[in-house]
Amino acid sequence: MAVERTLAILKPDCVRKDLIGAVVKQIQENEFKIVSLKMVRLSKEGAEGFYEVHRGRPFFEDLTVFMSSGACVPMVLEKENAVSDFRKLIGATDPAEAEHGTVRKLYADSKGENIVHGSDSPENAGIEIAYFFPISELVQMHK
Ligand code: CMP
Repeated sequence: MAVERTLAILKPDCVRKDLIGAVVKQIQENEFKIVSLKMVRLSKEGAEGFYEVHRGRPFFEDLTVFMSSGACVPMVLEKENAVSDFRKLIGATDPAEAEHGTVRKLYADSKGENIVHGSDSPENAGIEIAYFFPISELVQMHK
């Protein structure tokens, strides 16, 4: 299994609840390497651009209002099998359905405000990483 990258975003609810440290700790304890990380505030248009694939879905307006409601922390994570391992670590979209011990089970309030985003495929990870990080911010930190 090759080393893979995924995009994680600690969402505005995670930042507002002062959970950045707790979630980063859980990510690092699960052997993900942080390749790049920053704090940004998305505009409404920026959030719409990121979630373009969901445009037209009933939750699109609430999702993009929420994602532009405060700072968030996008980060690039590296690990063997990073995309699916990270989705396992964060748990189901709806915290009520998430496995015990997952990030969303531990900290999320609802399907809409669910603490963290993780890419759903290696292809989308590449697109999503490029949305937040220019190549110059993706240096090889662990070599
Ligand atoms: P995320 O992994 O960031 O990708 C899309 C987001 O839409 C998802 O997490 C949820 O936070 C949000 N969302 C809100 N309502 C729904 C819904 N009914 N189904 C799927 N995603 C939803």
